[in-house]
Amino acid sequence: MGTEEQSENGGGVATASDSLTITDNRTGKSYEVPIEDGTVRATALRNIKVNESDFGVMTYDPAFMNTASCRSAITYLDGEAGVLEYRGYPIEQLAEHSTYLEVAYLLVHGELPNQKQLDEWTHEITIHTFVHENVRSFMQGFRYDAHPMGMLLASVGALSTFYPDANKIHDPETRYLQIIRLIAKMPTLAAFAYRHNMGQPYVYPDNDLRYPGNFLSMLFKMTELKYEPDPRLERALDVLFILHADHEQNCSTSAVRAVGSSQVDPYSAVAAGIAALYGPLHGGANEQVLRMLRRIGTKENIPDFMQGVKDGKERLMGFGHRVYKNYDPRAKIIKKACDDVFEVTGVNPLLEIALELEKIALEDEYFVKRKLYPNVDFYSGLIYEALHMPVGMFTVLFAIPRTSGWISQWLEMIDDKEQKIARPRQIYTGEREREYVPLDKR
Ligand code: CMC
Repeated sequence: MGTEEQSENGGGVATASDSLTITDNRTGKSYEVPIEDGTVRATALRNIKVNESDFGVMTYDPAFMNTASCRSAITYLDGEAGVLEYRGYPIEQLAEHSTYLEVAYLLVHGELPNQKQLDEWTHEITIHTFVHENVRSFMQGFRYDAHPMGMLLASVGALSTFYPDANKIHDPETRYLQIIRLIAKMPTLAAFAYRHNMGQPYVYPDNDLRYPGNFLSMLFKMTELKYEPDPRLERALDVLFILHADHEQNCSTSAVRAVGSSQVDPYSAVAAGIAALYGPLHGGANEQVLRMLRRIGTKENIPDFMQGVKDGKERLMGFGHRVYKNYDPRAKIIKKACDDVFEVTGVNPLLEIALELEKIALEDEYFVKRKLYPNVDFYSGLIYEALHMPVGMFTVLFAIPRTSGWISQWLEMIDDKEQKIARPRQIYTGEREREYVPLDKR
């Protein structure tokens, strides 16, 4: 990519070195600050001081709106152009030709596997899908109506107690084993959480099935000797897994990196990612989209709902993104996957409402002005519902594939010599040096 094109893309992209001259109007002094890869180092500003005892200038960036926290070679995202690539491969090509397990290999290793590597990777993951029987027992201790995401969060955190070696994060072999275990066991834990809610016996993994097919089997197998997944539904699920595998420095990935920077084991770091993903502004959004569509109920109610959004009383869930200021490329692919799934399951009546909402929003000045477009969550919930997933499972279905992204980002962070324990600064706004007042004097 040429330098000119890169600089048009803004910060965070590798560019030719240059510098910035800053004049401190308090002292009249000028400083030269290097621009590296479209960024200035926040610590470079520490040289800008009024006097020797001054701490130096800090940057203030709540919610990290304009701060690159790392160098990463995993996912490229251009929010203005609506481009998403994993290790340089466009998401559209991966969704069309690849499988989730191949994409997970790509994310973790940086390259697409050859046949032998893919077979070994698939085999390793397949033979690690079982969980310790004690995991099963403690999951049975959750209330019957526990949110499956809460159960997943707790059980992934608990895995660290089953694999105490996992804290040897600088030992490549041990580390690799935990990566395999995490990717392999996530569907099992997710399916156990689902069966728990349904009051049904947990189903053990079937190692004859592929990754998404085995997950469907653990969810839906009843008395049949062998569960046979519908290949079209299995493929749709695989595509959804590919689309959700990574998304560079989002809230949950930043949580994994921040918690992992304390050098805790990867299960605990990934549990932090699951906790972040649980929130309604992140992975919980697809659950909220479905609830919103149900609440709207019929097309006639859309204008009132949209007015509520514009008046700031509502939020159009599944719309808008911190980075995408264009159509989320994942939403385009999911919209197409909807057609494939509905061919098998019959059309979800909520699709009509979703399509109408999208049509109105894309023409409405409120949304156009703010560059609000459908994101990955707008249509994914409709597919999950068609697959007979209760809404509580939606975020869990996001967490399963995002595990490969989290763990790749975690690995990259561990090996990055520039990284240290994450520890932001603050601007203190509270009182100072107050005298303690005894209780009877307050
Ligand atoms: N409905 C209505 N107005 C919105 C929406 C929305 N979904 N999203 C943003 N806005 C408005 C917002 O009120 C603000 O307006 P104003 O300038 O008048 O104050 C403007 O657009 C900018 O929004 P913001 O909240 O400053 O943007 P952000 O980057 O902080 O938030 C977001 C991004 C995704 C949290 C937000 O768009 C949102 O809440 N969307 C709905 C939840 C959702 O779909 N989340 C899934 C994100 S994609 C999956 C993932 O990566 O986790």
